[in-house]
Amino acid sequence: MSNLITRVISIDPIAPESQYINEAATILRAGGLVAFPTETVYGLGANALDARAVDRIFAAKGRPASDPVIVHIYDLAQLPAIAIKIPDLAYQLANQFWPGPLTFVLLRSPNVPANVSAGMPSVAVRMPSHPVAVALLRAANVPVAAPSANRFARPSATSAAHVLEDLGGRIDIILEGGAAIIGVESTIIDLTKDHPTVLRPGGITFETLRTHIPDLQVVSKHLHADEQGIEAPGMLYKHYSPRAELLLFNGSADVLIPAMRTHAIKQIEQGKKVGLLLPANELNTVADLPVEIVTLGSTEAEVSHNLFSAMRSLDQTGVDVILVHGFSRSGLGAAIWDRLLRAAEGHIIEV
Ligand code: TXA
Ligand code: MG
Repeated sequence: MSNLITRVISIDPIAPESQYINEAATILRAGGLVAFPTETVYGLGANALDARAVDRIFAAKGRPASDPVIVHIYDLAQLPAIAIKIPDLAYQLANQFWPGPLTFVLLRSPNVPANVSAGMPSVAVRMPSHPVAVALLRAANVPVAAPSANRFARPSATSAAHVLEDLGGRIDIILEGGAAIIGVESTIIDLTKDHPTVLRPGGITFETLRTHIPDLQVVSKHLHADEQGIEAPGMLYKHYSPRAELLLFNGSADVLIPAMRTHAIKQIEQGKKVGLLLPANELNTVADLPVEIVTLGSTEAEVSHNLFSAMRSLDQTGVDVILVHGFSRSGLGAAIWDRLLRAAEGHIIEV
């Protein structure tokens, strides 16, 4: 499955050239795999109605068949062919947030092959806003199953270079359309339950959703220690992991940096190569140490945009461990915290 020649086609992210879009759409319709930019992260697309094409996604990513993928559409008129018993709330939310970084879990139509949803009776659907994604979906005119375009368990791909690094030789085409703007994936909301439930925090915040859904539930046990319950399938796996071990520190601002410095020094003494992911205003706090430093930027939006590419850049310096600390968990911070926690395989160093 790694004997393909992967073509990388540079495309205008604002006004995508129709000849490239048409080429990629033809490949999708023929059962091939096309990576394309979305506003969240790069997606690895296949015709969602073609079970064999969907199987190829799992093979290319090395992804377990038990981890369902999201179906992408460009027009609400496509929705009834994908999901059944669609609640009014789905249409209200679609009017408000689509196209954009919000995914609905609905009941799956029998038209959609079971492997898209790992055999479950539900299906996840999203309408992306990135002009390249929209143009591709329109030209292909089939719903497109697309997980993030990274090898399984790796940090999500936010540029064509990341996709090539992970999936070169395994997929047909990469549409190279610049860096994904948001940088973390869509928010997933399950609309099949009595109470709408957020399964994964992402590009649309809880705070924004709550203004439309007063009884919104949040299932991630990591966000509210008192809340129990299962998470989205696929969420249970090791995820977003750099090759280096990632150590996530948590605590009040005044003790975080001293604790991270002490830990870094200890690791250096043990002969480890240490890297740090830091917000811009903290870069100089470890500048005297023999460590690799990559900045996450200043604002929440910048940290979200940079997070996965910063993990990959630090990895490329050959570090053994990556030290990072948590940020505020409101707004986009909830998605950032969730990704950091999974990259740290659920371990937090409380200081
Ligand atoms: O922003 C995004 O959502 C990106 C871009 C490419 O659209 N896609 C993405 O896909 O993040 P992926 O495969 O990396 O994450 C999909 C996750 C699965 O791991 C699973 O947790 C959840 O979506 N999911 C998919 N189908 C589901 C279903 N039927 N029920 C519950 N969760 C589902
Ligand atoms: Mg993913």
